Amino acid sequence: MNDHGRMESIERASRDEITALQLERLRWTLAHAYERVPHVREKFDSLGVHPGDLKALEDLARFPFTTKEDLRRTYPFGMFAVPMDDVVRVHASSGTTGKPTVVGYTQRDIDTWAGLMARSIRAAGGTRHDIIHVTHGYGLFTGGLGVHYGAERIGCAVVPISGGQTERQVQLIQDFKPTMIVGTPSYVLNIADEFTRQGLDPAATSLKRGMFGAEPWGEEMRRELETRFGIAAMDLYGLSEVMGPGVAAECIESRDGPTIWEDHFYPEIIDPITGEVLPDGEQGELVFTSLTKEALPIVRYRTRDLTRLLPPSARSFRRIGKITGRSDDMLIIRGVNVFPSQIEELILRVPRLSTHYVLEVSRRGHMDDLAVKVEMKPEVASEADKQAAVSELRHHIKSYIGITTRVDIVPFGVIERSVGKAKRVIDLRGQA
Ligand code: DLL
Repeated sequence: MNDHGRMESIERASRDEITALQLERLRWTLAHAYERVPHVREKFDSLGVHPGDLKALEDLARFPFTTKEDLRRTYPFGMFAVPMDDVVRVHASSGTTGKPTVVGYTQRDIDTWAGLMARSIRAAGGTRHDIIHVTHGYGLFTGGLGVHYGAERIGCAVVPISGGQTERQVQLIQDFKPTMIVGTPSYVLNIADEFTRQGLDPAATSLKRGMFGAEPWGEEMRRELETRFGIAAMDLYGLSEVMGPGVAAECIESRDGPTIWEDHFYPEIIDPITGEVLPDGEQGELVFTSLTKEALPIVRYRTRDLTRLLPPSARSFRRIGKITGRSDDMLIIRGVNVFPSQIEELILRVPRLSTHYVLEVSRRGHMDDLAVKVEMKPEVASEADKQAAVSELRHHIKSYIGITTRVDIVPFGVIERSVGKAKRVIDLRGQA
């Protein structure tokens, strides 16, 4: 099937058509949320804004933001705009502290989500001929079920294996011969390691394409996934508050950052400090307003994800640059802002080092101190190689980021493996 055959007509629409649709849907969302969610009404009223004030898309800047805190404060269902009888599914994200954030869907929301996830899989080159191995967790996390419904909508054969039981994942990849794999980049690399441990070559499998998301990953990570598995690796973006996976997805023909499904989500980039809307192309915090969601309409949700809006390429919609990190992941090491993903990219440039690392942040006196703990590749053993890798990584970190760090090489297998989102930072500050 050619590219056009894979697209819905809206994916090729003109900017004017997209803007008109967005404006109409945005008006509906603001009115729907204002009329049915008391918390939203209070926030609009206290700022003195009314849904009727939205005459053009730019007017959205006058409306209040929504944050995770709003969802926590109204826990569990206080932000829902429909009665529970109309809700057919809930998901929740655990969060590191406190109450989880709960999200809900009507039947129509689930249908929209399946449609957008199907569109995302098609963008990544998927068709009904694919066998798709889904390693995202099934359950309260949106990853597994979200991808699953989209894949079924296309008519793929879905293997809903979820995360974990890594030896079995290897077995089933060999036996079922999937053509696509979906998961977090860190977990799919754990599967690659397991192939290698069993003396098998991950590049020799039936896999042709993969979709990776739920955590930040950069171009070096893409190269690693592509060479180890012999696949094309596409980025899949989403967040539970806005829907789940399938808010934006990368197209196989361009692989230049996820295309935002702008007919369902209106993006803005803001200055994370002042809240001011920034022009396209400038780096800042990504903010989304849902355009069609019934159960949980969300107005100007602050994702905390840092990126920029890019012009359309393979589709008519705008794209986001790869997410460099979250504002709440940012470390400030002796005054320099550092994201774990930056360190990850530098680790991957050192051929002897593996993709398993963790950053330990501690406090020495008044200063924050960063130690990078990283595993060597299992086949590298000599002390000289180890020393060379340490100095190469320290040198890269010093020259690209500008800070001096400790690098500790630890034996292969010591760093905890995750089956979902990898935990990259251990914060020892505040501990005695
Ligand atoms: O992680 C939804 C998802 C599932 C996306 C499967 C893709 C694949 P949450 O658990 O709510 O939802 O976490 C959302 O994860 O704000 C980002 O910080 C991060 N994230 C998600 N996708 C990407 C990506 C799911 N492609 C949070 N690149 C988001 C970088 C991502 N970060």
